[in-house]
Amino acid sequence: MAKDTTRPGRAAGTSTRSVHGGEREHRESDALTTPIYQTSTFWFRNSEELRAYQEGRLRRDEYGRYGNPTWRAVERKLADLEGAEDAVLFASGMCAATTTFLALLPRGGHLIVTSDCYRRTRQFCDEYLVKLGVEVTVIEPANPAKLAEAIREETVLFFTESPTNPYLRVIDVAEAAEIAHARGVRVVIDNTFASPVNHNPLADGADLVLHSATKYLGGHNDLLAGAVAGSEELVSKLRAAVGVLGGVTDPHSAYLLLRGMKTLDLRMRQHNASARRIAEWLEGHPRIRRVFYPGLPSHPDHPVARRQMRGFGGVVTFEVDADLEGTIRFVDACRIPYLAPSLGGVESLIEMPVLMSYWDKTPEERLAFGITDSLVRLSVGIEDVGDLIADLEQALEAV
Ligand SMILES: Cc1ncc(COP(=O)(O)O)c(C=O)c1O
Repeated sequence: MAKDTTRPGRAAGTSTRSVHGGEREHRESDALTTPIYQTSTFWFRNSEELRAYQEGRLRRDEYGRYGNPTWRAVERKLADLEGAEDAVLFASGMCAATTTFLALLPRGGHLIVTSDCYRRTRQFCDEYLVKLGVEVTVIEPANPAKLAEAIREETVLFFTESPTNPYLRVIDVAEAAEIAHARGVRVVIDNTFASPVNHNPLADGADLVLHSATKYLGGHNDLLAGAVAGSEELVSKLRAAVGVLGGVTDPHSAYLLLRGMKTLDLRMRQHNASARRIAEWLEGHPRIRRVFYPGLPSHPDHPVARRQMRGFGGVVTFEVDADLEGTIRFVDACRIPYLAPSLGGVESLIEMPVLMSYWDKTPEERLAFGITDSLVRLSVGIEDVGDLIADLEQALEAV
C-alpha cells in the first residue's frame, strides 16, 4: 500500500523538511521528484470544469501567471521551513519586495526602513514609492528607540533586513514587533542573510518574511527568484498582486530552487561553521582592521544574534588595513572566491562594496552609508575551510 501523502510535519527536523516539505502533492506519474510543469497555461476538459473552478469547487491551475504546480511545491516547502501558513514566489528578491510594498502600502502611507539595507530596495522607495505619495523614513538598524520615534499615524510597514547588508546588524524581531504592533504597524523581515535554517522571524512576531531566493534558498548561484511567507490573509494579497504586476518565476527556475532547497540545511551548517572560523581567523590577523560578523563577541548585536539565531550565516564583512589600492591587490590575489556580486551559493564570492554596489556614489555619499575604501564582503561558500583560509592568507600578503 502506498503511504499517505503526508508532509513530514512541523515536528520533523529542518533537514527532513528541506528535503520533503511541499513535495508530495502531485501523484499523476508517481515521479519521485516534482516535475517541471513547462507550460504557460492549463486546459479545462469542458465548461463545467471551468465553472467548478471559478466557483471554488475545484482547486487547480488556470494560467501560468496565477500559479504553476512546480512553483507551488516551492511555496509549500518555504512555508513549511518558515513555519508560515502560506508563501508566494516571485521572479526575484527585488520583485518580492516591490510587490509587497505596492500591495500593502496605501496612497499616502508611511514606510519605515533601515539604513543598512540592500540599495535597490532603498532606490525603489526613493524613486518609485514617492510617486504614490508614500513617505519613507530611514532609521538606524537595531535601534528600537528610533523605531518607536519614527512611527506615526500613517505608518503601515516596518521593513528591515536581519542580518543587514553589509554590516550584518541583527534586529531584535520580537522587540521590534512589539513596538510596531502596539501602534498597528506590520513588520516585514528580509531573512535572506539568515535563511530559515538560522532564524524564523515569524516565530518572533514578524508579519511577513521575505527572501531573495537567489541566495541561500537556491544556493548554487544559478537562478534568480524571490519569496514571501506569512499568514494566508497577507500572502493572498501578495499573490493577487503578483498576478497583476506579473513578476512570476519561470517553472525551470522554480525546479532549480526546489532542488537547491533540499540541501539547504546541510549547506547552511557548512556556511555557518566556515564563516565563523574565517571571521575568528581574520579578527586575529594583523592586516585586518576590523571584522563584522554577528557570531563574534565584538559585533554590536552579538547578544541579540545569540538569543535569536541558530547560526550566524555565511557572510563575513571586514576592513583590510590598507587603502583602496591595497585592498584591491588583496581581492585580486584571492584564488578561490570569485570576484562577483551576490552571496549564499556554494562558491565563495568576494567583493568590495566601494567598487561594486556603491560605484555610482560620491565618496561623501559612500561614507554616509558607512562604505569605506577598504571594506570587503566575503560570502563564504562550502569549499574546505582550510583551503579558504590558506587562500586568504596568501592574498593578504599582496596588500
Ligand atoms: C538582502 C537582500 N534582499 C533582496 C535582494 C534582492 O534580491 P534579487 O537579487 O534576487 O532581486 C538582495 C540582493 O542582493 C539582498 O541582498
